Amino acid sequence: MNILVTGGAGYIGSHTCLVLLKEGHNVIVVDNLSNSSLESLKRVKKLTGKELAFYELDLLNLESLERVFIENEIDSVIHFAGLKAVGESVSIPLHYYHNNLTGTFNLCSLMNKHGVKNIVFSSSATVYGDPEIVPITESASLSATNPYGRTKLMLEEILQDLYVADNSLNIAILRYFNPIGAHESGEIGEDPNGIPNNLVPYVAQVAVGKREQVGVFGDDYDTPDGTGVRDYIHVMDLAGGHLKALEKLNSKPGVVIYNLGTGKGYSVLDVIKAFSKAAGKDIPYSIGPRRPGDIANCYAEPSFAEKELGWKAVKNIDDMCVDSWRWQSQNPNGFS
Ligand code: NAD
Ligand code: WQD
Repeated sequence: MNILVTGGAGYIGSHTCLVLLKEGHNVIVVDNLSNSSLESLKRVKKLTGKELAFYELDLLNLESLERVFIENEIDSVIHFAGLKAVGESVSIPLHYYHNNLTGTFNLCSLMNKHGVKNIVFSSSATVYGDPEIVPITESASLSATNPYGRTKLMLEEILQDLYVADNSLNIAILRYFNPIGAHESGEIGEDPNGIPNNLVPYVAQVAVGKREQVGVFGDDYDTPDGTGVRDYIHVMDLAGGHLKALEKLNSKPGVVIYNLGTGKGYSVLDVIKAFSKAAGKDIPYSIGPRRPGDIANCYAEPSFAEKELGWKAVKNIDDMCVDSWRWQSQNPNGFS
């Protein structure tokens, strides 16, 4: 199949492109490289020994984006492109709304115009807000606590409106929990700009000597050790979930929504310990105040995806830390 991957040069996108190419699909990537580098895709080509088509363009530019639909016979779309930093979204909400919403409107309007019916959309466990019950099922109540999360929630609803208007569409909404890890080669991985916002890239940079110590955001939560508990999922497991979602769309299911997580929760201290084991060194940390907007517990009930897609995450927290460490230690400055 010919798969258009928006945001394919980014962290999850690049790993998914690798899996798609290995599976024999033709991959067409659109990315404006606002949060990624072309080097990720060069390495994907090297690792797979296969070519892919790349368009450096912004989803906000409707005319340039239409060129991609004219020049390629697209069967399905995987839509990763978007801005994702929670704190930044609070500071520059208009930018987030414009980029994430308008980019998706442009994409969907061209899919409509060119008769492309299948789309996999990157949503997030952030749409569950502060969950009342864990593990979280897909039917849990939804809410957003910041502009980034609101873009995901709005887009989920907008995609469902598009389906009501056109029942021939097939839409898979995938709610990722906390993706970490890297391809086992250590050639591609997560390469955040500046100071990492997320725990594992921060821990990795401490382990490699780029930062002094990890600040643990609070140890007074209602969790076993008082630090926040999350469902970390290996990015290669996540990439595999996209392949299964694409297959599902071929059975014309309409709108389907799946949690992609492991179902297991690990605390901040558990992660520091596992990473320390993977890197073979102590990782200094200090306990600080809570980060505004953080929640105590967030982990998935992943059994619906297993039942419907035949997909299950297989890699554990040690695998995730070993692979993150291989990537970080082989590439201390990321792709640059
Ligand atoms: P990423 O920033 O590494 O990748 C996103 C890619 O989209 C980048 O390469 C960026 O350059 C590109 N992009 C952004 N706006 C664009 C635009 N207007 N036009 C063209 N390209 C554009 O992020 P990621 O971690 O790979 O996340 C991929 C998707 O998954 C995002 O939609 C994100 O919100 C979602 N998600 C990520 C996480 C996570 O923790 N990483 C969790 C849940 C959901
Ligand atoms: C994990 C845990 C922190 C950094 C975010 C987004 C979510 C999704 C995934 C996109 C928490 C603690 C963190 C640090 C720490 N992204 N922490 N010190 O907040 O669960 O989710 O990324 O959709 O929408 O909100 O991930 O990795 O930032 O934090 O103690 O330096 O680590 O308090 O308990 P989070 P995270």
